[in-house]
Amino acid sequence: CGIVGYIGKRDVAPLLLEGLQRLEYRGYDSAGLAIQGKPAKGAQSAGLKTAKAKGRVRDLEAKLPKRFAGTTGIAHTRWATHGAPNDINAHPHQDAEGKVAVVHNGIIDNAADLRAKLAADGVELVSDTDSEALAHLIGRSQAPTLEEKVRHALAMVEGTYGIAVLHADFPDRIVVARNGSPVVLGIGEKEMFVASDVAALVSHTRQVVTLDDGEMATLKADDYRTYTTEGSRTSTSPTTVEWEAESYDMGGHDTYMHKEIHEQVDAVDRVLRGRIDDRFSTVHLGGLNLDAREARGVRRVKILGCGSAYHTGLIGAQLIEELARIPADAEPASEFRYRNPVVDPDTLYLAVSQSGETYDTLAAVQELKRKGARVLGVVNVVGSAIARETDGGVYVHAGPEVCVVSTKCFTNTAVAFALLALHLGRIRDLSVADGKRIIAGLRKLPEQIAEVLRGEEEIKKLAAEYANAKSMMFVGRVRGYPVAREASLKLKEVSYVHAEAYPASELKHGPLALIEPEVPTVAVLPDDDLLEKNRATLEEIKARSGRILAVAHREQEKADHTIVVPRNEVELDPILMGIPLQLLAYHTALALGRDIDKPRNLAKSVTVE
Ligand code: G6P
Repeated sequence: CGIVGYIGKRDVAPLLLEGLQRLEYRGYDSAGLAIQGKPAKGAQSAGLKTAKAKGRVRDLEAKLPKRFAGTTGIAHTRWATHGAPNDINAHPHQDAEGKVAVVHNGIIDNAADLRAKLAADGVELVSDTDSEALAHLIGRSQAPTLEEKVRHALAMVEGTYGIAVLHADFPDRIVVARNGSPVVLGIGEKEMFVASDVAALVSHTRQVVTLDDGEMATLKADDYRTYTTEGSRTSTSPTTVEWEAESYDMGGHDTYMHKEIHEQVDAVDRVLRGRIDDRFSTVHLGGLNLDAREARGVRRVKILGCGSAYHTGLIGAQLIEELARIPADAEPASEFRYRNPVVDPDTLYLAVSQSGETYDTLAAVQELKRKGARVLGVVNVVGSAIARETDGGVYVHAGPEVCVVSTKCFTNTAVAFALLALHLGRIRDLSVADGKRIIAGLRKLPEQIAEVLRGEEEIKKLAAEYANAKSMMFVGRVRGYPVAREASLKLKEVSYVHAEAYPASELKHGPLALIEPEVPTVAVLPDDDLLEKNRATLEEIKARSGRILAVAHREQEKADHTIVVPRNEVELDPILMGIPLQLLAYHTALALGRDIDKPRNLAKSVTVE
């Protein structure tokens, strides 16, 4: 979901709609806004006006009344958790008198209780949402100030929230609060912004204040202050966002996904920049906060993340095991946090996240920290919750990723893992010669990615050929397997074609039963010591009349088609092999007419449980 708010002198509705558009990628089944109406001469307030619509921001825009003037407002784009996506469940939610408007990200765990209590007190709840309860609680508070009303309401709430609140009786302010869902203030000249993501702010101001959990803020046109939910002032000075407003534009591409796939050449260059140390054949990772002695004491590495971030973790674990010879594995953060894991002091935990806000990953970090573990982040968004909660880490520097499905951030994170693995390896037993070899490989990556991207037309043709598959099987062995996992996820997410990923070695233990001409296989075949074994797998598939699309360093005669990818070092080849498969997913989705940047049912960052 996304929140945006503004207080200042400008006409607010267009500003809010623009902000919502920038946030639509976070969730998009309904949208709405509330503004402080323009008071008549002499009057203090004109009351609130709201508009809501099921669907996209453009549907809301179409529904907006002609006269919708005001200079203070809040807005929301929703990704349903409680209650179906419809006009009534869309935010903002209001109290019975219509004096309060609330937009809320997160989940209120005791919503059922709160709703029942409100109903028992005679309050008529109009929506099915957890958020509506908040509006009523604020509206019913007898406290004299808006800040205290909000504080009273929040004291009754269990769960996570990022909220922004308007009140007709307090037209000079917006009150916001954060607990588990991001809230960023944008500091302007005689105007203030609030949003759940800097994406909605950067075209107006790059001076931001990120709230911590348990923090609230009051925004007025020419002033802001922050304080804890208990009411004591906190000191926060604004920081400057590095990302340019232009990096959120489509830049001549038809979709963000296409743009972001093509940005990988520069993005990989950026993650490497300034970090390579030729003198010692290693890399500098300034923010890691782990000295050589500590690094030598690490006996295990555990990588946690969700979705594509988890898959980069699978690549990362292999790189760390291969280059640093530390046992390493990756696990979905969403699973880890629920299974009462044994937390070991000699294990280094790594939390991976593009947004740095994924709730499951953040919760895993918090649980680990509570148990005294050392947790580092591998994160894209600077200053995000996971970046701040971890003890240090590696920034991925992919730049803003807008398309819901991850492409450039996936690749950059994999490269960041290669840097980390090299760093840990060179502190331990990786030789200078191997360090040099990996560094040379890393330096070749941007140009090789460009080479893969030049083959787009051919991949487009292949996508047309395979787009009507009933289902797709993705296989790989060891180094190829995480690539197969991610490629299968990518295809599912963006084209809705069913896909399954399996270790090539496991095919004969079950899924071979699925192979038929309508179920083609994509085989990821790095040129390592397992290539012969992989070829045998291709034979097994061919013998069942399955079609094969290979991704390899040279033509595969057993395959119906081969996408040839340049050779790097064996350890780094998986990074390159993922890229043509991003294009395959993209062109399949395009051929099937899908909504590429905003696949159905998904959100870019899932900041709820
Ligand atoms: C969502 C997105 C995925 C993403 C995952 C983790 O589910 O749809 O594409 O990989 O969250 O996001 P993160 O920001 O933590 O990398």
